Amino acid sequence: MSAETTSLMKYLIINYRWVLVCFFLLPLSFLYNGYFAIRNWIFFKLSSAPKNHLKKVQSIQKQVQEWNKKGRKKKLCTARPGWQTMSFRRPAYKNTSHQIVVDLVDVLEINLDQRWVEVEPMVTMGQLTTVLNPLGWTIPVVPELDDLTVGGLVMGTGIESASHKHGLFQSICLSYEMVLGDGSVINCSENENSELFYSVPWSYGTLGILTATRIRLIPAKQFIKLKYHAVHGLDKICERFVEASSCSDNEFVEGILFGPDRAVVMTGNFTDKPEPDKINCIGKWYKPWFFKHVEKKLNPYYKNDVEYLPLRDYYHRHTRSIFWEAQDIIPFGNNLLFRVLLGWLMPPKVSFLKLTQTETTKELYENHHVIQDILIPAKHLHKSIKMFHETLEVYPLWLCPFYLGQAPGMVHSKSGKSEMYVDVGVYGVPKVLDFKPEKSTRKIEKFAIDHDGYQMLYADTYTTKEEFRNMFDHKLYDKLRKKLNCEDTFPEVYEKVSRKARI
Ligand SMILES: Cc1cc2nc3c(=O)[nH]c(=O)nc-3n(C[C@H](O)[C@H](O)[C@H](O)COP(=O)(O)OP(=O)(O)OC[C@H]3O[C@@H](n4cnc5c(N)ncnc54)[C@H](O)[C@@H]3O)c2cc1C
Ligand SMILES: *[C@@H]1O[C@H](CO)[C@@H](O)[C@H](O)[C@H]1NC(C)=O
Ligand SMILES: *[C@@H]1O[C@H](CO)[C@@H](O)[C@H](O)[C@H]1NC(C)=O
Ligand SMILES: *[C@@H]1O[C@H](CO)[C@@H](O)[C@H](O)[C@H]1NC(C)=O
Repeated sequence: MSAETTSLMKYLIINYRWVLVCFFLLPLSFLYNGYFAIRNWIFFKLSSAPKNHLKKVQSIQKQVQEWNKKGRKKKLCTARPGWQTMSFRRPAYKNTSHQIVVDLVDVLEINLDQRWVEVEPMVTMGQLTTVLNPLGWTIPVVPELDDLTVGGLVMGTGIESASHKHGLFQSICLSYEMVLGDGSVINCSENENSELFYSVPWSYGTLGILTATRIRLIPAKQFIKLKYHAVHGLDKICERFVEASSCSDNEFVEGILFGPDRAVVMTGNFTDKPEPDKINCIGKWYKPWFFKHVEKKLNPYYKNDVEYLPLRDYYHRHTRSIFWEAQDIIPFGNNLLFRVLLGWLMPPKVSFLKLTQTETTKELYENHHVIQDILIPAKHLHKSIKMFHETLEVYPLWLCPFYLGQAPGMVHSKSGKSEMYVDVGVYGVPKVLDFKPEKSTRKIEKFAIDHDGYQMLYADTYTTKEEFRNMFDHKLYDKLRKKLNCEDTFPEVYEKVSRKARI
C-alpha cells in the first residue's frame, strides 16, 4: 500500500468510525441485548438457574482438577475473552494462561425476608435492576453502566452515587462462593473464612474463581428526587460537594465538573410521590445525554432545579453516553435528529467497540486519550482537581464520594480511621499540549500514592511493582496467596494490570 493510501485509510478510520458504529455495531448491540434479556427472563421464570448452578460449579471444579492432574503447567484465568470486559485494556495474560470456562450468568435467589439476593458473577447491573426494581427492592450501590458484571465489580471495584453512604461495591456483599486452585469449593463471609472474605476485593481473580455472591438488599422507591446545584469557583465547588457528601440524609451525591471553576453537584433521595410536572424520563432514547442535560443547569435560570427521575433511569443515567465517552465515538450522537431516529440503539456495547478496533484506533486511544479513576481522601479534593487540570485538562471530570472504612484488605482508609474519599474520574482527550501517556499517568499515580490514594485496577497503571505495593496494602493478600498456594496457580494482581509487566 502506498503512503497516501495508508494515510487516507487512517483518516477514514479515525474520522468515520461512526459509520461502522451506526450501521453495524449499534444494531448488533441491540440484538445481542435483546437475546440476553429474553434468555434471562425465561431462565428466571423457569427457576432453572439455581438447579443448574451446582452443575456449573462442578464443571469449573473438574476443569481445575484436570489442570492439577496435568501438572499445573500454566497459571489460571477465566476464559471470558478480553474484548468482553469493560476495561479498555487488552489483557495480555489471557494468551499465556490456562483458561477456565466460567458460564455463570444467572440470578439465583432473592430472599426478601433476610434481605439479600444471590447471583452468579457474570450477572450485569442492567440485569439486576430489571429483576429487582419492579419488586420494590435494590442493591444499595448500583454502578452506572448496564454491562458491568458482579464478578468484575467484586474482583476489581465498583462505585456509585450512593457510595458515600454504603461504601464501595464490595461493602454491600455478604459472602462469596469460590473455587480454589486445588479444585475445592469454599464459602467466605465476615464469620466464615473471614481473612479470605476481606482479601477477595481488589484481588482481580488472583485468589480463586468466584462462582456466587450474596448481596444486601434495601427497599427502593419508584423515583429519585434529584436536586441540581450549579456551583462556581473551585473553593465553593469543593466545599459544596464535601458538605453534600457528609450529609447522610442525601441518599445520592454526585458532581460533574465542566471546567476548572464550574460544576453541578447533584443530591437525590428516594420518593414515591413525584410532582407530575417535574418528572423527567431521562433514560428514554430520544432524551439528551445525561451529562449534556446536567450542563444546562449551569444556567442561573435553573438555580437549585428539582426533577424526578424514574429509578432505573437514574441508576443507568450514564449508560447511553458511556459517561461522556460516546461523544468521541459518535460526535453528533446528542443531536436531536440522531436521537429520535437512532437513539434507541444506543449505546454501542463497549465490548463490540473493542472487538472492532483497528491498530490505528487502538494507538489513537492509547496516545491521545485517558481513562482513569483516582480515589483520594476528600480533604485533598481541591489539590487533586488542580493537579488534574495541570497534568491533563480533561473535562467533564466525574466526582463521586465514597465512604472508606478500615476492614483489612488491599484497600482501606490509610489514616487509621474511616474517612470520606472521592473518586475523580477522568475520561476523555487531554487538552494539555505535553500529554504523554506514560509520563502524565505516572504523575497522577505519584500524586495518588503521596496522598493516601488508590487507582482503579481496570485502567492502565504505569507504577513499578514497588510503587504498586506502596499504593495497595498487600499484607493480608500475601498471607492468603501463600496459604492457598496461589504462587503457581494465579498471577499476582500487578502482573495482570501493569503496563510495565506487559511491555
Ligand atoms: C468505560 C468504563 C466505564 C466504567 N464505569 C464504571 C462505573 O460507572 N462505575 C464503576 O464502579 N466502575 C466503572 N468502571 C470500572 C469497572 O468498575 C471495572 O472495570 C470493574 O472491574 C468491572 O468490569 P467488568 O465487569 O468488565 O469486569 P472484568 O474486567 O471482566 O473483570 C475484572 C477482573 O475480575 C476478574 N474476574 C471477573 N469475574 C471473575 C470470576 N468469576 N472469578 C474470578 N475472577 C473474576 C477478571 O479476571 C478480571 O481480572 C468503568 C470502566 C470502564 C472501562
Ligand atoms: C494471542 O494469540 C493469538 C494467536 O496465537 C495472536 O494472534 C494474538 O495477537 C495474541 N494476543 C495477544 C494479546 O498477545
Ligand atoms: C456455600 O453456601 C451455599 C449456600 O449459599 C451452600 O449451598 C453450599 O453448600 C456452601 N458450600 C460449602 C462448600 O460450604
Ligand atoms: C433528602 O432528604 C434530606 C432529609 O430529609 C434533605 O435534607 C435533602 O434536602 C433531601 N434532598 C432532596 C434532593 O430532596
